[in-house]
Amino acid sequence: MAMTTIAVLGAGKIGEALLSGLLSAGRRPEDLLFTERYAQRAAELTERYGVRAVDTATAATDADVLVVAVKPQDIEVLLDTLATAVTPGTLVVSLAAGLPTALYERRLPAGTPVVRVMPNTPMLVGEAMSAISAGTHAGPEHLAVVEDLLSAVGKVVRVPERQQDAVTALSGSGPAYFFFLVEAMIDAGILLGLPRDVATQLIIQSAVGAAVMLRDSGEHPVALREAVTSPGGTTIAAVRELENHRVRAALLSAIEAAALRSAELGRAHD
Ligand SMILES: NC(=O)c1ccc[n+]([C@@H]2O[C@H](COP(=O)([O-])OP(=O)(O)OC[C@H]3O[C@@H](n4cnc5c(N)ncnc54)[C@H](OP(=O)(O)O)[C@@H]3O)[C@@H](O)[C@H]2O)c1
Repeated sequence: MAMTTIAVLGAGKIGEALLSGLLSAGRRPEDLLFTERYAQRAAELTERYGVRAVDTATAATDADVLVVAVKPQDIEVLLDTLATAVTPGTLVVSLAAGLPTALYERRLPAGTPVVRVMPNTPMLVGEAMSAISAGTHAGPEHLAVVEDLLSAVGKVVRVPERQQDAVTALSGSGPAYFFFLVEAMIDAGILLGLPRDVATQLIIQSAVGAAVMLRDSGEHPVALREAVTSPGGTTIAAVRELENHRVRAALLSAIEAAALRSAELGRAHD
């Protein structure tokens, strides 16, 4: 892996986060390349990270790993170039939401290994949750390369590709559900007469603290909640209202709806 050249195709928000994470994890700038449509943006990134901007055809020839980080609507144009430029054996890693490995396999040279990734926006702060799936020609060695790459910007799990709609609904959209919850809890603070900045500080730090406990304590979420739910106390009074308003059922339905929508969007690429 140390000698691997990685090219990020489309250095937007996600592409830049990956470049930055790879450098922080110890990759050398000369082992990284990127492509970007606007010359000015490319120059800024080269200035910031010391990484060379190239055109797509050069990236396809020079890199061992191509990471596709363009928006799904830009994929066709990119594939037109990659179809003739990719050298056999180059690993293609797709971060583009919803695009199946089969789409790449149809357009790229026969036998090209493709790994599909569903990341999420906390990649921007090095705390992504990424789920990766092997295409037809990708083996465990390719998945290991992708795990190594993405662990520079967060955590990684392997799932069969058929589970990517569920992943999209859970961790892809997941940060939005937490933001929604935080927003509602801040409003509750306003209702109780707290200044907005105080309510915001109280809730955000409570969210961070709860997240670190969930990650680091090894305790089940139920055990952590029970530990702050004393008999006849304040928390159980709130929990009764959450149950009365069927918040658990609402989350099950909401996440199921997201998965169904992901499957619906995916069918557009069949
Ligand atoms: N952001 C998320 O929450 C998230 C989560 C999971 C997955 N993803 C996936 O990650 C991918 C990137 O998302 P993003 O938020 O980083 O989007 P973004 O900021 O729009 O980045 C995409 C970049 O690629 C550039 N680009 C497009 N076509 C190109 C081409 N042919 N050659 C070179 N550069 C090209 C775009 O340039 P222009 O500025 O000219 O358009 C843009 O700078 C998407 O496929 C998305 O589905 C994103």
